[in-house]
Amino acid sequence: MKSLFLFTFLISFTAFSQTKKAAPKASAAPGAAQLARGKQIYENNCMVCHQETGDGVPGLNPPLIKTPWVLGEKPKLINVILKGLQEPIEINGERYNNIMPANDFLSDQEISDVLTFVRTNFGNNASAISAAEVKAVRDRK
Ligand code: HEC
Repeated sequence: MKSLFLFTFLISFTAFSQTKKAAPKASAAPGAAQLARGKQIYENNCMVCHQETGDGVPGLNPPLIKTPWVLGEKPKLINVILKGLQEPIEINGERYNNIMPANDFLSDQEISDVLTFVRTNFGNNASAISAAEVKAVRDRK
């Protein structure tokens, strides 16, 4: 009986360590497929205001280049997409007080793709944002 217990324990332990090994790395670099999807979503939903190179339109639509929103805390950035933004802000000495519409019709995966694209393009070099991170912020409402 005792050895049977030990045997079961060993089997589950082996299975457990293998599951751990198989799990993808949380800090994995974004793949080419995700960035291609993100670029497409950017072109469809963001480019008209923030422009092809992410440098925006002075006085109207702020740039997405190394701003405190793009590189700052992820929930704050995710909320710009989910809820939009309409408050006076200042970026590189330029003031903006315009309306960014909410883009909450985009799925968690689509927001993950577009924000990961933005955070790794236009001179930005920040980590990916996962669909789970977007979902966590969306569920908080
Ligand atoms: C209709 C024009 C418009 C569209 C479309 C739009 N934005 Fe914006 N965005 C704005 C404006 C205007 C602001 C500043 C709002 C303010 O002054 O409070 C802004 C602010 C931001 C900010 C925070 C400030 C900064 O520059 O870092 C981010 C990040 C952002 N937008 C990302 C996006 C992304 C990603 C998309 C596409 C999913 C998008 N925007 C679509 C107009 C737009």
